[in-house]
Amino acid sequence: MRRAVCPGSFDPIHNGHLEVIARAAGLFDEVIVAVSTNYAKKYRFSLEDRMEMARETLASLRGIIVEPMGEGLLAEYCRHRGVSAIVKGLRSSSDFDYELPMATMNRQLTGVETVFLPAEAHYLHLSSTLIKEVNVLGGDISDFVPKSVLKRLLAGEPPTEPPRRG
Ligand code: PNS
Repeated sequence: MRRAVCPGSFDPIHNGHLEVIARAAGLFDEVIVAVSTNYAKKYRFSLEDRMEMARETLASLRGIIVEPMGEGLLAEYCRHRGVSAIVKGLRSSSDFDYELPMATMNRQLTGVETVFLPAEAHYLHLSSTLIKEVNVLGGDISDFVPKSVLKRLLAGEPPTEPPRRG
């Protein structure tokens, strides 16, 4: 069985992520959406909320699992979970410049390959960061996020994970 991973913060998951995950599901038998934790990052949503939004959004797609990635190396996570490919969407050449060294490092660490999918033109401008900023400033983000995310963003709950000290 060919198993791939789509790793990320998913803070929150948006329509650009969905498009890439759905295409990955068409290429592999199983796709794990691995929700990362990086203690250097300040998240808008807790890990539980990020996973719940992803699960709600992806429930209708077959062959997709949503799970926490933990805090360790992605390459080791892939080895542990029997993942043969990391799937990443590319929106721009700067995405590629950022991703290429990580893809090479991951392959050298454990042999896991990275598959890049060019993002669909309609979603090239989307990022979780931009969507959160537009939302906080009162802009309409309903075209960019799934319903379960829109609901939470419009509820305007404060960030659930405070910045770490030190
Ligand atoms: O959505 P993000 O925050 O851009 O996702 C980044 C992620 C989780 C894919 C990246 O930070 C990652 O791979 N983290 C795992 C730590 C790791 O393996 N670092 C070495 C990369 S070669």
